[in-house]
Amino acid sequence: MASVTGLDGIIAAETELSMVDGQNGVLVYRGYEAKELALHNSFEEVAYLLWHGELPSTDILNEFKKRWAEQRSIPAELKAVLDLLPKESEMMSVLRTATSVLGTIVHREAEWPLHFEQILTNTLMLPTIIAYHYRRSQGLLPIEPDPQLDHVANYLYMLTGSVPQQVHVKVLTAYLILAMEHGMNASTFAGRVVLSTQSDLASALCASIGAMKGPLHGGAPSEVLHMLDAIGDKEQAEAWLRDELKAGRKLMGFGHRIYKTNDPRAEALRQLMTELAAEDPWFDLAIHVEKVAVELLNEYKPGRKLYVNVEFYAAAVMRAIALPTSLFTPSFTLSRMVGWTAHLMEQTSCNRIFRPQSVYIGELPPSLQNHV
Ligand code: ACO
Repeated sequence: MASVTGLDGIIAAETELSMVDGQNGVLVYRGYEAKELALHNSFEEVAYLLWHGELPSTDILNEFKKRWAEQRSIPAELKAVLDLLPKESEMMSVLRTATSVLGTIVHREAEWPLHFEQILTNTLMLPTIIAYHYRRSQGLLPIEPDPQLDHVANYLYMLTGSVPQQVHVKVLTAYLILAMEHGMNASTFAGRVVLSTQSDLASALCASIGAMKGPLHGGAPSEVLHMLDAIGDKEQAEAWLRDELKAGRKLMGFGHRIYKTNDPRAEALRQLMTELAAEDPWFDLAIHVEKVAVELLNEYKPGRKLYVNVEFYAAAVMRAIALPTSLFTPSFTLSRMVGWTAHLMEQTSCNRIFRPQSVYIGELPPSLQNHV
């Protein structure tokens, strides 16, 4: 039986978008450390960087933001389709459906090569679609985008109906920037494979959203929240974590396929949350649990190099801004949309259809018994 590798270690493309160095815990977006961008830049600036290769000047940024503010409302045809879906529909399925609908009603004429306008449309409308379906699922009226607000603040505003606190915008922006791009992950690869056939943007994005939806990829940090709730207080942490490891269960928010040291995204979020929530007993518990968990993982799984990952502190961010757990993966998706579309532009510029091979391990007909 051939071993199933999951393409582990296979290089599928060259990219100028990001470098993920798992041995040293470094994540670079187009020449900048992602953690620095997350702490000091806006969502719009980092999206511009990933799409266009450089950070925008103040004039360009202002013009860019103006376009964003004008293009966030979703078309009536899309609202009509969303209104037909059951209110309780799972959000990632709704996003996949809405992306497909957008592909049939907006920019119909432009299929290949990609047009930047199509990319902008899909990126700008995704938060509006999330907020529209979320409020509908809660029995609330949808809220139109506010052109005075930036992308992240407007997302929170459309969900809640209130202009968010600056501090909430700051921590969510940091998380969304850190989640924007991460090399050839499953959803990015899925989108690039579809686009490599010279298919259209909507089809590629539907594939990416479909891949993101699976628990092995876009798994939300809600499990970390449950774990910390179950631990309850610092006194219980060691015994609780030991019981989990003795029972052979995994500790949520620890370990990573690529990072064999601290995930730099977790470090950036920890730093930010330390500034903002040092007094919060829940955050104090999270810091303690990380310390004890890493010691115990080293004891129970020596040599496996298990450290904290981004999901652990993403949970702290989501909790701090009171985002419902059903919105964790969709929020990750609205940010990864930038990375996906940057990869799709890159794929368009040097396209060759993806065509890996498989090894036949089945029976041969008698006439081919000597076939090698
Ligand atoms: N707790 C306890 N043990 C662990 C953990 C953990 N969190 N993670 C890995 N291990 C152990 C495994 O049991 C395995 O032990 P063994 O050698 O005795 O069999 C060894 O470490 C290697 O683990 P794998 O599962 O093979 O590592 P892989 O690279 O395939 O998986 C993954 C990485 C899925 C992230 C894993 O570490 C995990 O399940 N972590 C918990 C869930 C989690 O936090 N997911 C979020 C990841 S970040 C993101 O996706 C954005």
